[in-house]
Amino acid sequence: MTEFVNSGWAWFIALTTLVSLVGLILLASRVARRRHPSSTTETSDHVWDEDLAEYNNPLPRWWLNLFYVTIGWGLAYLLAYPGLGAYRGFLNWSQQGQFESEMADAKLHYDPLFEKFAATDLQSLMTNPQALKVGARLFASYCVACHGSDARGARHFPNLRDDDWLYGGAPATIETSILHGRQGAMPAWDKIIGEDGVRNVTAFVEGLSGRKTDSSAATKGATVFRTYCAACHGSEGKGNQALGAPNLTDDIWLHGGTTERIAESIRLGRNGMMPAHAESLGVAKVHVLAAYVASLPNLAAPTQVED
Ligand code: HEC
Ligand code: HEC
Repeated sequence: MTEFVNSGWAWFIALTTLVSLVGLILLASRVARRRHPSSTTETSDHVWDEDLAEYNNPLPRWWLNLFYVTIGWGLAYLLAYPGLGAYRGFLNWSQQGQFESEMADAKLHYDPLFEKFAATDLQSLMTNPQALKVGARLFASYCVACHGSDARGARHFPNLRDDDWLYGGAPATIETSILHGRQGAMPAWDKIIGEDGVRNVTAFVEGLSGRKTDSSAATKGATVFRTYCAACHGSEGKGNQALGAPNLTDDIWLHGGTTERIAESIRLGRNGMMPAHAESLGVAKVHVLAAYVASLPNLAAPTQVED
């Protein structure tokens, strides 16, 4: 709007609008004056299908009045709100002003609430229904794009309801995950162990979850695993939460559990990336979110987000 302030365009738009409104009033009053006594039934000259004629009756009074009311409404609106060129309206309303006042209201309303939550330990928040409700709302706004509306995740995005954690399920650990983000670092192995190595160690890894596999491949794979993989995934393949190296024995797969997907994880590596939220959300909101996420595996159904 600012570019209108001193330009002829502002006047042009204001004048065009006003002239149109005056034109509409004139048109309406002209139509109103052309009233006939209701007994005459004049028809227009148009005839269709040989005998189908069109009445030329004046508009009903109520209809015309409605027309005047809408014109009056339009004028009043243009006086009150911005719309007539550069004129701002006597209410002095603006989108920016409304946004700022709503934000200030929300701050007044929510700041004390979040201050209270921030000063409460995670264990207590996990049993506080109000905190869980706020947590559910925050989750719906900031986390569902990746973790899903039911927090059950998707391929490449972990399920947060199943009590199987890459980095640990202690509430404080979950809070660290959300505050600072996480980056999974699984190297690519194709150049180091070759395609045969990938195939063998895939057979071994599938065997860890109790799947039936080619046993001679799995035996060769066990050696590969001990040499290259145990450092991160543990000698029994149960993972290492300090590194975010997943447990490979529970048949839960972050990056897909078919033989081909598992082989792909090993061949090309994986780098799941959880963004940090400390700056974007602030520590108080992350605190509430951590309590909500930590309580998820214990909740039978997701806490409903109410509108
Ligand atoms: C430097 C530590 C490290 C080493 C060494 C390592 N991994 Fe991993 N691995 C990880 C991490 C971390 C992840 C999780 C990646 C992510 O979060 O995206 C992972 C993920 C995986 C996955 C995917 C799991 C899933 O749930 O989808 C498989 C399979 C796997 N590794 C197998 C292996 C095999 C086999 C080896 C040895 C050839 C190996 N890893 C060596 C750290 C390692
Ligand atoms: C851009 C996608 C994305 C968004 C947005 C996102 N996450 Fe994540 N999150 C991930 C990925 C990917 C991982 C797994 C990282 C890895 O593989 O190491 C993850 C991991 C996590 C973990 C660790 C899980 C574990 O098993 O240890 C938690 C907790 C978590 N996210 C919570 C949240 C919360 C709460 C939000 C909302 C504030 C959120 N995430 C938003 C992608 C996302």
